[in-house]
Amino acid sequence: MSALAAVFAQYPLEVEHAEGVWLHARGGRRVLDLYGGHAVAALGYGHPGWTRAVQAQAATCNFQSNAVPMAVRERAAARLLRFAGGGYDSVFFVNSGAEANENALKMAFRMTSRPHVAAVEGSFHGRTAAAGTITWGAREKWHAFPRTPFDVSWMPRRDIGAIARHVTQDTAAVIVEPVQGVGGAFDMGAEFLQALRNRCDEMGALLIFDEVQCGMGRVGQAFAAGLYGVHPDMITTAKALGNGFPCAALLMAPRVSAAIKLETLGTTFGGGPMAAAAIEAVIEAIEGEDLLANVRRVSRYIRETCRVGPVTGFQGEGFLLGLRMSRPAKEVQAALLERNILAGTSGDPQVLRLLPPFILQEEHVDLLKGTLAAL
Ligand SMILES: Cc1ncc(COP(=O)(O)O)c(C=O)c1O
Repeated sequence: MSALAAVFAQYPLEVEHAEGVWLHARGGRRVLDLYGGHAVAALGYGHPGWTRAVQAQAATCNFQSNAVPMAVRERAAARLLRFAGGGYDSVFFVNSGAEANENALKMAFRMTSRPHVAAVEGSFHGRTAAAGTITWGAREKWHAFPRTPFDVSWMPRRDIGAIARHVTQDTAAVIVEPVQGVGGAFDMGAEFLQALRNRCDEMGALLIFDEVQCGMGRVGQAFAAGLYGVHPDMITTAKALGNGFPCAALLMAPRVSAAIKLETLGTTFGGGPMAAAAIEAVIEAIEGEDLLANVRRVSRYIRETCRVGPVTGFQGEGFLLGLRMSRPAKEVQAALLERNILAGTSGDPQVLRLLPPFILQEEHVDLLKGTLAAL
């Protein structure tokens, strides 16, 4: 019996080592990874630059707190702001997506002194008390806390007409995943996001993009904010940010940065030098290897070639791609795994979710296509 808490259903696959886009499992099995450990393994496995950077930082200085200045932390923050393409002037590093969202909400409450947040149906923002409060269905399924820490109301996805009803003078923040991950690789589209931006400006509410899953290059741009040309006051990101080294970040626009005072936010591990080195190496690889262009090209190739077998359509962006199925995605996922391809499911039972490493090539897609066609 496992010593691990029985929290996660287990795939029938035990990974021993991995390289590139391939998982090598017990029994000599080789599995194509189109899921990237829940969107984390952006550079795939054994990336030489990332591995070197993490090893070198471990040998140089593995940890100092945020009270001790370190060049690697400064460099990671500056590089992340540059990568985001302007509009943000400070970064607060934390450890997980949920923690980044908690801190974003905290800033919005501090700045507005209002009691309410508007979220979007289908969203997933994390498992802590506040992040769970804005996660669709959490209250019914697992939230468990006796009270929620603030009022929340739910906007239907892409329903521009509903926004005014939900975003009022009581609203501290609107939080949205520009492309929902768990919700089924569901893209909100530029019009809905722009309408949220406009209403937040009108009401004096803060707009937060949760780019924990869709950010850091996954949509084929640095962030979905840039893809859609809509700029929130805060962006949260994690997952691909460290390529497996646990870390997350809150990017803040100048008016949010200006509201920060000493010790309003805090963390022990956030912004540690190992995480900072990992973040720097991830951005270096994405930029140096032109991986955003690769994501766009190969994502297009999937859409062009994989409408076969049970696949009836596509949704999402880049490598946060949903394949709509004529039968339950869970069945298709199991059949693919039997044939050595790992893909994900989502909150939408008909959507198979692909979150592959950004280094995926056409030859790998051909394997997926051939396997889907034979199902
Ligand atoms: C969009 C989004 N936000 C937040 C989270 C929570 O991130 P973490 O598990 O790092 O706390 C997730 C995790 O799946 C996510 O997909």
